[in-house]
Amino acid sequence: MKHLIAPSLLAGDFLHLQDEIEMINNSEADWLHLDIMDGVFVPNISFGFPVLNDIRKVCKKPMDVHLMIVEPQKFIKEVADTGAYMMNVHYEACTHLHRTVTAIKEAGMKAGVTLNPHTPVCLLEDILYDVDMVLLMTVNPGFGGQKFIEHSVEKTARLKDMIERKGLHTLIEVDGGVNMETGKRLLSAGADILVTGSFVFKSPDPYQTIRELKEL
Ligand code: DX5
Ligand code: ZN
Repeated sequence: MKHLIAPSLLAGDFLHLQDEIEMINNSEADWLHLDIMDGVFVPNISFGFPVLNDIRKVCKKPMDVHLMIVEPQKFIKEVADTGAYMMNVHYEACTHLHRTVTAIKEAGMKAGVTLNPHTPVCLLEDILYDVDMVLLMTVNPGFGGQKFIEHSVEKTARLKDMIERKGLHTLIEVDGGVNMETGKRLLSAGADILVTGSFVFKSPDPYQTIRELKEL
């Protein structure tokens, strides 16, 4: 599969969200990545469901929702109602991850499980059969524009190996500090989807930047 690009709106201009989303609609981006933070699971607060519901009215690309919140299982219906394509919950935030993943799929969405940088991929051994995507955090979640954590490349390769050994087709998404250089190495290690915030939205020509990321 040719890799996908999922720009993260967190780095966009919140005063002109409609313009940012129309840019994504008209670009070669595959998905729109949306970061929800609660100030508890991560030390920052971003935006919530009222904003997602308005984004949905304009966004023509599949919405990839990344919940950095405690007890994400409480909000499966709210996320499904926004029309989200993918709902990502953190491994570290779910006591009954299998139940949560099952409920996400029953609500009509794809289920993604996200790992913080310190959480080893071996912990996915038993849940991997039930998830559509694993989202590997390549920075500590909570903020855009942070420095890429180097060992994420080797971690991506280890996850890819685990997926192949099981004969699965689980997607691997990577998120944080992704640019042309780190993106290339992550793709070689087995990543399928690159999330990019600042690198796309702060670039002089986001259309061109997305095009170049697609060509990696
Ligand atoms: C961080 C978020 C990311 C963030 C990435 O907690 O999950 O999606 O927007 O931003 P960059 O690409 O700037 O590191
Ligand atoms: Zn994210």
